Amino acid sequence: MEKLTTKQLKDMWIKFYKDHGHTQIDSASLVPQNDNSVLFTTAGMHPLVPYLLGEPHPQGTKLCDYQKCLRTNDIDSVGDASHLTFFEMLGNWSLGDYFKEQMIEYSWEFLTSKKYLGIPKERLAVTVFAGNDDAPKDVEAYNKWASLGMPKDHIFYTADNWWQAAEVGPCGPDSEMFFITDKEPCGPNCSPSCDCGRYLEIWNDVFMGYAHTEDGKLVELEKKNIDTGMGLERAVCVLNGMKSVYETDVLQSCIKKIEELSNKKYGTDEQTTRAMRIIADHMRASTMLIGDEVPTTPSNVGRGYVLRRLIRRSVNYARSLGIDAYKLCDLAELYIDIFKEYYPSLVTNHDLIITELNREIKKFNNTIGQGLKEFDKAIKNITNDKMSGAVAFRLYETFGFPIEITIEMAQNHGIQVDMDEFRKCEKEHKEKSKANTQVFTSGLSGTGLMETKYHTATHLLHAALRKKFGNDLCQRGSNNTPERLRFDFNLDHKMTPEEIKEIEDAVNTQIKRGLDVTCETMTPDEAIKCGAIGLFNNKYGDKVTVYTIGDYSKEICKGPHVKNTKELGVFHITKEESCSAGVRRIKAILTDK
Ligand code: ALA
Repeated sequence: MEKLTTKQLKDMWIKFYKDHGHTQIDSASLVPQNDNSVLFTTAGMHPLVPYLLGEPHPQGTKLCDYQKCLRTNDIDSVGDASHLTFFEMLGNWSLGDYFKEQMIEYSWEFLTSKKYLGIPKERLAVTVFAGNDDAPKDVEAYNKWASLGMPKDHIFYTADNWWQAAEVGPCGPDSEMFFITDKEPCGPNCSPSCDCGRYLEIWNDVFMGYAHTEDGKLVELEKKNIDTGMGLERAVCVLNGMKSVYETDVLQSCIKKIEELSNKKYGTDEQTTRAMRIIADHMRASTMLIGDEVPTTPSNVGRGYVLRRLIRRSVNYARSLGIDAYKLCDLAELYIDIFKEYYPSLVTNHDLIITELNREIKKFNNTIGQGLKEFDKAIKNITNDKMSGAVAFRLYETFGFPIEITIEMAQNHGIQVDMDEFRKCEKEHKEKSKANTQVFTSGLSGTGLMETKYHTATHLLHAALRKKFGNDLCQRGSNNTPERLRFDFNLDHKMTPEEIKEIEDAVNTQIKRGLDVTCETMTPDEAIKCGAIGLFNNKYGDKVTVYTIGDYSKEICKGPHVKNTKELGVFHITKEESCSAGVRRIKAILTDK
C-alpha cells in the first residue's frame, strides 16, 4: 500500500470536517496568548480553553484545525522512536453544538470509510469510560460504537478514560481509538491498556460534559463540548506500520539532508541514528519557534533559553557527525519550504529565522572549542565521579554551554555534575549582576522596557497606517507583551504583501531618523486642535497627556515611551489577519538588527 504522508492526513482531516459543516481555524501561536502559566502551546485544545469555558468563539460552534505544539518536558528522550519536541495536533471541536453520538459517528466514518482512512474494523479497538463515584459508566459511548459495527470484543471499558485540561474547568469521559498491529496478543488479558505494542493509540475523543468547580465539585455542564485530538506524526507512523515517528515523511526529508551533509547513513549505528533524529527534531522546533507569528529569539530566559538549548544541542550533535554547524541553516530552509503553505509566518520571518540561527551558531561556535577543551580538562582531573558545579557554571557563563548540555556530555563519561554547587554559583552570580544593573540602568529596565518600546512602535505603526489608508483608520485595540505588539484597526480589506512591506518600511524609516519622543499635558480641546489622535469618544479628564514623535505622530496616551525612536531597533510585521468584521489585526516585533 502507498504510504500515507503527513500532508495527506492533514489535508484529509480538514476536508472531512469542512465537508461536515466545520470552520477551519488558524493554528494559534506556539506562544500562548491568554495563558501565562505555561511557556508553550502543548496541545490542540490549549488555545481553545476560553471557548470551552463558555466564551463565544467568533468563528462559530463547529471548528477544526491543525495546531503547532511544543513540549520540552521530555527533551532528553528525543532521539528514541517516539519522542518529539515540536509536533502537530489535528483537532475538532463542538462548542455546545453536537455531542457524543455525532462525534462517534464522525470518528467511525473518518477511520473506516474508504473515502478517508479506510481502516478495516478488525484493525480497530476503542476504550470507553468504566465509571466511578462521580460519573457513570459511559454506556452511551459503548452502545454507539457497537451500533456502528465496532466488534463488541474490541470495545473496552477502562477506569482511566477521563480527560481534563486542569484541576478546575471542563472535563469529561473520553474514548480513545487504537490501531491493532500485527503483534500477537501478549496474553489472554491483552488489551489497549497494556503496553505490549499490539494496540497503538491514534485518536482521542473527549466528551466534555462536566466541569470541576473551584471547591472540587463535579457539575454537569449545560453546554456540552467536544474536544478531540490526533497527533499527526504518531498517527501517520502507526497507520503506515512504521517503527518510529522519524520514519514519517517530513522528518525523513530532513534526515536525508543530514545524511548528505554528514556523508553518513541513518541507521548505521545507534549513536548516528540518535544524533540525526535529535538534529531533525530540534531544528524543526527552532525554525518553528523563530518563524512563529510571535517569534522567539535565543536568550538566557524562558522561551529564549529553550530555543538556545535546542540550537546549541543541534550544533553539538552536528559536530559529532562532522557537519559544519552553519549548514544547520540548510535544514531550516528545508522546513520553511515544507511548512510554508500551512504556516505563512515562516515566509514573513524567513530572514529572521536565518539571521537568528546564524547569530546563535556563531556565538556558540566562538567559544565551543575552548569550552570543550575546558570540559576535557575538567573530566581528566576528576577524582571521584562528580564534576564540580563551579566548572559547569563557568562552562555556562563563559562558554555558553547550557547546563543540560554539560550534564549530557558528563553523563556520556559516566559522570554526574554537582548541581547543588552549580545552583549556588548561579545564585551568587545573579546577586552580583543584580547589584550592577541597579547602578547602571534606568528605572524602566526590567519593568517592561520591551513593552515600552512596543508602545512607541505602536504609535509609529498607527501613524504609518493613517498616512497610507487615510484618517478614517482608527485604533480598535492594542496589547503589548515583552515579546510583541498587537494592534487592531478598521480597514475594509486584507493588506497585500506590498502594503505590509510599505508600512513596515515607513516605520523603520522613522526609527532610523532618530526622532525624539516628547510629552506635554493639555486639555482635550487643545489636544484636538493640535491634531492629536485619540479615542475622543472616551471620557478623558480635564487634562490629557499628548505624546509627540518628531513630526510624525501625535497621540493622546498615558505612556510610558522611549526617549528616541533609535532605541527601537528594527520593526517587523509578523502577521496581518482579520480580527472581526472590518477590523484587521497586526502583530509585530522589534529586533536588534
Ligand atoms: N484534549 C484531548 C487530548 O489532548 C483531545 O488528548
